[in-house]
Amino acid sequence: MLTILGCGAIGSTIAHQCFINQIDFNVVMAPTESAQLQHKLLRFTDINKQKFTIPLSPASQTATNLIVTVKAYQVETAIKQLLQQQMIAADANIVLLHNGMGTKAIVEALLPKANVLLATTTYAAYSEKKRDVVQTGIGQLQIENPFANINECSERFPVINQLIGVWSQASWQANINEILWKKLFINCVINPLTAIHQFKNGQLRERRFSAEIHELLAEIYQISAHVCPALSDAEIKQTVYEVIDKTADNYSSMNRDIANNRKTEIDFISGFLLKTAAELSIDLPKHQALYQQIKHLETSNS
Ligand code: PAF
Repeated sequence: MLTILGCGAIGSTIAHQCFINQIDFNVVMAPTESAQLQHKLLRFTDINKQKFTIPLSPASQTATNLIVTVKAYQVETAIKQLLQQQMIAADANIVLLHNGMGTKAIVEALLPKANVLLATTTYAAYSEKKRDVVQTGIGQLQIENPFANINECSERFPVINQLIGVWSQASWQANINEILWKKLFINCVINPLTAIHQFKNGQLRERRFSAEIHELLAEIYQISAHVCPALSDAEIKQTVYEVIDKTADNYSSMNRDIANNRKTEIDFISGFLLKTAAELSIDLPKHQALYQQIKHLETSNS
C-alpha cells in the first residue's frame, strides 16, 4: 500500500498513476486541509483531456510507504501529526517530493529509523477547484537511489519500485543531489524576482535584469563549487536561462503565492542556499536581500 500525503497538483498526479496502473494507495491530507477527507472523489483531466474520477480512500492503517507531496514548510507539521496519530511506522520508507531543500534532516530527526528518499518531478498540473486537477505537462519523476546497486532498490523498496516499474516517466536516480541543487539554483533566481516584480518568468529576459541575474549567479557559483562541483558555472547559467525561456509565459509558484497572500517556500529555496553558505562562511548579499524582500512581502500580506 502506498500512502500519498497531500492531495494537491502533484499528489493527485501520483494518485492518477496509481489508479490507472492498479497500485493500491490511500491518502492523508495536508495540515492546511481539513483533517477529514471530505471530497472522496478526485476529478483528474490528463494531458490528452481524458477525464478520470478517482476514488480516494483516507489512510486507515499505519503508513509504511509514504510519498510526501505537501509544501516543504508543511512537512514537519504533517509528519508530527502522523506520529501523534500513530499513523506512520518508525521504519517507514518516505519519499519527499516538493520544491526546495532542507526537509530530509527534519524528517530524519523525527523518525531516525525511517528510510528517507529525496525526489523531484517536472510534471505540471493545477487545481481548478478542490479535488479537480488538470494536467498541463508530462515530465519526469526521479527518486533517489541510495545504493550503489540499483537492484537493491527493488528489494528494499518494493512498493516504490512497483510504481517506478509501471510509470514510464519515473526512475531511480543515483545523483539526485546534483539534480536538486540545480533545481534549487533555478528557483533561487526565478522565484523571488518574479514574486517581487509580480510578472511572468519571461520578463526576466529584459535587459534591466541582466546585471542582477549575473550577480545572483556569481554568488551561486561560490556555493556550487562546494556542494556539486561536477556542475559547471556555464551549465548553471544556461539552465537558468533555458527555464526562463521555456516557462516564459508562466507565473512562478512564488509569484502565485505572493499574489494570493499565501506563505511562500522561500525558507527552503533561498533560505536553504543561505544556510549552506553560512556553514561554508560565505556571504551572499544579493540572495540575502531577495530573501528579506520576500519575507517582508509575506508579513505585509498576512
Ligand atoms: O517554482 C516554479 O514555479 C518552477 O519551479 C519554475 C521552474 C521556476 C517555473 O516557474
